[in-house]
Amino acid sequence: MDKTKRKAIIAGNWKMNKTPSEAKELLNAIVPAVKDADCEVIACVPYVDLSVALEATKGTNVKIGAENCHWAESGAFTGEISTGMLKEMGVEYVVIGHSERRQYFGETDETVNKRTKAALAAGLKPIVCVGELLWERECDITEEVISRQIKLDLFDVSAEDLKNTVIAYEPVWAIGTGKTATAEQAEEVCAFIRETLAKLYNKEVADAVTIQYGGSMNDGNAEELLSKTNVDGGLIGGASLVAEKFAAIVKAASK
Ligand code: 13P
Repeated sequence: MDKTKRKAIIAGNWKMNKTPSEAKELLNAIVPAVKDADCEVIACVPYVDLSVALEATKGTNVKIGAENCHWAESGAFTGEISTGMLKEMGVEYVVIGHSERRQYFGETDETVNKRTKAALAAGLKPIVCVGELLWERECDITEEVISRQIKLDLFDVSAEDLKNTVIAYEPVWAIGTGKTATAEQAEEVCAFIRETLAKLYNKEVADAVTIQYGGSMNDGNAEELLSKTNVDGGLIGGASLVAEKFAAIVKAASK
């Protein structure tokens, strides 16, 4: 992290976990535990938990995010949620292009780009996820994969809008597997993302973007990962569902 240049952000991605009553209980435990955080703290929760989550975090330093959004303002898109719906509720962030959506729900770089632009246009802050598969890493094409995702996912996103965009580097092989990227591997790719952004935009803009690491980040490995210059925070799955673990990661990012 380099807090002189950019914001450190720890975000929980709850995925398909927690009913509204469970969400309330978890946030009631998280809120007091992270109240002195010296970083931004976000909980990205299932749509049905948003209302309860916004209520439970009102007036606190915990921000709320959704886990996806559609690009159209409204229309015949059964099961989808628009940016306007999220914005009106008071949601601030939205995860876009998570590898689970790419893997199981046909998300492509084109739809990630559409969702990202719609989120920005509505005044939401997208957390855009990129990351390579294990066999892509083994074939030594990690940089090609990441560069392609960054270019396509952020196509037509202005430098001004990039300031409200967070990038999450999540190597797919590290998600939910207990296999964390080493701090060096995380730093290498996060630095590469920043270089790519510097080429697409400019160095000043690239230096100001928060780039998170995600993939089996937990209370035991967060400090080391976050000690790296280009790792500006974390997108946390499993460990964000346990208040003490999540709070410990926030503490590591607050140092
Ligand atoms: P885990 O922390 O459970 O590996 O999940 C990471 C992730 O996918 C966050 O978006």
